[in-house]
Amino acid sequence: SLAEKGNYRHFMAKEIHEQPEVIARTLSHYIDVGSGTLRDGAVPIDFSQIRRLSIAACGTAYYAGLVSRYWFERLARLPVDLDVASEYRYRAQAFPADELALFISQSGETADTLAGLRAAKAGGQQLATVVNVPTSTMAREADIVLPTLAGPEIGVASTKAFTCQLATLACLAVKAGIDRGTLSPLDAEGFLSALVELPRLVAEAVTLEHSIERVAKLVAPASSALFLGRGTSFAVAMEGALKLKELSYIHAEAYAAGELKHGPIALVDEELPVIVIAPFDDLFAKTVSNMQEVHARGGRIIAVTDARGAHAIGDTAEELIVLPDVPAFVAPVVATIPLQLLAYHAAIINGTDVDQPRNLAKSVTVE
Ligand code: G6P
Repeated sequence: SLAEKGNYRHFMAKEIHEQPEVIARTLSHYIDVGSGTLRDGAVPIDFSQIRRLSIAACGTAYYAGLVSRYWFERLARLPVDLDVASEYRYRAQAFPADELALFISQSGETADTLAGLRAAKAGGQQLATVVNVPTSTMAREADIVLPTLAGPEIGVASTKAFTCQLATLACLAVKAGIDRGTLSPLDAEGFLSALVELPRLVAEAVTLEHSIERVAKLVAPASSALFLGRGTSFAVAMEGALKLKELSYIHAEAYAAGELKHGPIALVDEELPVIVIAPFDDLFAKTVSNMQEVHARGGRIIAVTDARGAHAIGDTAEELIVLPDVPAFVAPVVATIPLQLLAYHAAIINGTDVDQPRNLAKSVTVE
């Protein structure tokens, strides 16, 4: 049966608001909330036997992979190779032994990702997939299936599938850290308990919708927008820019904040909204100095931060979106929510087709 919109105006709105529930459902597949440990067998991978992880995906799923690279490296010291599937499939890959090839996909049918999976199979690699549709081709063809339990996603622009991919990949990174001996049981417990808090924190982020509607009025008339972030916030910035361009047709690009001086700073003027993802983490001070560079040139800063960060940013930003203070590990999931809402409301203001943006398809099954 077809999924219903309920009381929502668009599937996208419904899917944004569903996130606390579907993230909780996805996490409880991997974590036994009672004991705060990973469920036996939920991640059937022994990461101590893996020398390198290669990740390939398209679109939003690729940005989930980009976030996870920081997690796998930090928690498990596991080298990660990451590429968009349309490049991955055409590279002359070495396919080393002891490498696990991981493909991330909502639909499990994207042509380029599927071709990547088949190339890795031909290269003799072990195949895993993080996938939302359990009956999909990728789910059938992979050796290891790591489900996201987001339920059917109808809006063309991915929202709940993305945050459920992050929840799943975070559990994988913890498992990798345990297997590789880089996380003590106490550390692992700390990371898992941060994850268990996610549904509540995401629900809090969704309540910011009203203040984000105000920010959307500032962004919607712009012809271009810049998103900046460092570390996992860089990956979140990439996803935020993708959402904005897909939905509102505003040209948007994301840069690693440190690259600002190597090009995009030339674009800064009084017209350019600059959305900076700046949670109060160990990279915060660096990101604030980038904000000051933008501010000094008249750029209009919208800072997505938390209570501790807001205090330090002060009036460098024209608008502050203040998220709850959360552990750095889960911050990318929480920071994604206001960017989804921003793109949604900018699209409403600009009168675009939210659930069916022009020229886009939910699942791209041709090359
Ligand atoms: C299309 C959709 C995106 C999606 C991408 C990858 O471009 O419009 O929302 O992220 O495909 O799709 P997949 O199903 O493989 O995650």
